[in-house]
Amino acid sequence: MAESMKGLKRTHRCTEVTTSMIGETVTVMGWVAKSRNKGGIVFVDLRDRSGILQLIFEEANVGAEGFAKAEKLRAEFVVAVTGKVAKRGGAVNENLKTGEIEIIAEDIRILAEAEVPPFPIEADSKTREEVRLKYRFLDLRRPDIQSNIMLRSKVTTEVRAFLAKEGFMEIETPILCKSTPEGARDYLVPSRVHPGTFYALPQSPQLFKQLLMCSGYDRYFQIAKCFRDEDLRADRQPEFTQIDMELSFVDIDDVIDVNERLIKHMFKEAIGVDVQLPIRRMTWHEAMERFGSDKPDLRFGLELKDISDIVKDSEFSVFSGAVAAGGTVRGINAEGMGDLPRKKIDALTEFVKGYGAKGLAYLAISEDGTEKCSFAKFMKEEELAAIKERMGAKPGDLLLFISDAKKKFVLETLGALRCHVAELKGLIDKNEFCFVWITEFPLLEWNEDENRFEAMHHPFTMPMEEDLPLIDTDPGAVRAKAYDIVLNGVELGGGSVRIHQDDIQEKMFDVIGISKESAEDKFGFLLTAFKYGVPPHAGLAFGLDRLLMLMTGADSIRDVIAFPKVKDASDLMSDAPNIVDEKQLEELCIKITATE
Ligand code: AMO
Ligand code: AMP
Repeated sequence: MAESMKGLKRTHRCTEVTTSMIGETVTVMGWVAKSRNKGGIVFVDLRDRSGILQLIFEEANVGAEGFAKAEKLRAEFVVAVTGKVAKRGGAVNENLKTGEIEIIAEDIRILAEAEVPPFPIEADSKTREEVRLKYRFLDLRRPDIQSNIMLRSKVTTEVRAFLAKEGFMEIETPILCKSTPEGARDYLVPSRVHPGTFYALPQSPQLFKQLLMCSGYDRYFQIAKCFRDEDLRADRQPEFTQIDMELSFVDIDDVIDVNERLIKHMFKEAIGVDVQLPIRRMTWHEAMERFGSDKPDLRFGLELKDISDIVKDSEFSVFSGAVAAGGTVRGINAEGMGDLPRKKIDALTEFVKGYGAKGLAYLAISEDGTEKCSFAKFMKEEELAAIKERMGAKPGDLLLFISDAKKKFVLETLGALRCHVAELKGLIDKNEFCFVWITEFPLLEWNEDENRFEAMHHPFTMPMEEDLPLIDTDPGAVRAKAYDIVLNGVELGGGSVRIHQDDIQEKMFDVIGISKESAEDKFGFLLTAFKYGVPPHAGLAFGLDRLLMLMTGADSIRDVIAFPKVKDASDLMSDAPNIVDEKQLEELCIKITATE
């Protein structure tokens, strides 16, 4: 039967017991990680969130009753043990923080027994993720997940400490909000009191934090839960957490400055990494042209090169046709891959076809100088020479090209291929943290399906002053006062200076096709607030989950979230979402039309 805590106090966590305490009596509590009965002596590895400590049970010290209990112990039993700290009798275990000591048990209580767990509680688990997530409460006991979760707590503690020191106030904003689609699909919550109406869960605290600036709070932050009903990926969850902030009386450089120092503080305090400031800045245009991505991984080169001017009049219609259609031809030099077998080049072609490319043209130069090329027969000698020169080609190199009438498509597909090739070639140093600010994003993005512009960040993002005149004549060319912080090819955070002038805001709604009525209906409360004295303001939000994923080197943000959801947005442990009682639906005036 499980014993109680009556009269018992834990004195230390497992790894708080050290060699300097030899001879002292301690009481430790935790889970049995391992128990070995060697006949007359029982060895137990005790685990708590700090780590492992070895316990030794012998009848002479723990008594007959105590020894009988020790012999019963199995993995995941919960015990409290009092005993003397001693130097290890056996060999020192170099792998443990407590490897030089052990506890000679003098008393034991079994606080809880445990069934055999469905998988071993150990680091680097080989168990399938679905099984681990079904028993997440056990998975969370594993040391690697536990260290991620503890690091997450450390990071939020440090964020709070840093931002408080910088004069930010932590203010909570509502979870039950009005639906004002910000990009992704909303999660809706039906109202019982107002049948037929819905709250939306916030995609971010954007509107509220801007209101707080109107209300004079000056510097706001929040560790905020956000909800977006979008397709999930390794770095996306339906509910996730932002380190969200907004500042008044500032411009871009002020936001970048405080956030760079926040980044430096977080990385130093959480994982002991020194981030060099200032962090490099790159315009969106440069990032797209050189790396084919607005979140470039700068840990490796493999830059994109434009050969459109060289091939525009060539006989190779795949290339010349793309240029004639207003498109482009770009390539990368996969240095040192010139002897890649044909099969592997085909695999690269399949990779870009996965993105919708029609093909991948290549020129492979072996170490001995012989060339294999998918388009040489259509090229003049001097065209080929010019291509090789532009690409910086030498023996042993593999040149890969994509052409298309759509420039953005070429850049993005080649950008993805660039990362793929770097991965294949092992060019990526997993221990490097390569930050970059991406600035001067386009204000607007053309929506092909709806045949209209939409805001690239959100409709409250301020255009760059020097581009304001273009808003009527060439809206697509207007750049925004928006910025993203990118780390190792992942968009870690983003933000912008907001529009605080009503004429510019009206213009913005105008170009993205939001009527006065519709703006009033969606964001009326914000627009009204702006009429009563709005300070210039700007802000930014980091994705906390992504930050932890990068800090820990985890493959997925699921590994840094205590209770994550899987790809279809369900929770394998609790089985959410679930069917609810007929009575609950009736109260909400909701009829389900979906069939099985
Ligand atoms: P944005 O939409 O760029 O900006 O979001 C900010 C950061 O949040 C993280 N993020 C996510 N993380 C996990 N799962 C998701 N589904 C997900 N979606 C976004 C990313 C991203 O960079 N209100 C603005 C910020 C501002 O302008 O101040 C906003 O939400 O790391
Ligand atoms: P084809 O004329 O279809 O035999 O193609 C000749 C070469 O051009 C092959 O290597 C194709 O993979 C390649 N190719 C076809 N379309 C494209 C494209 N849009 N961009 C780059 N290469 C292409």
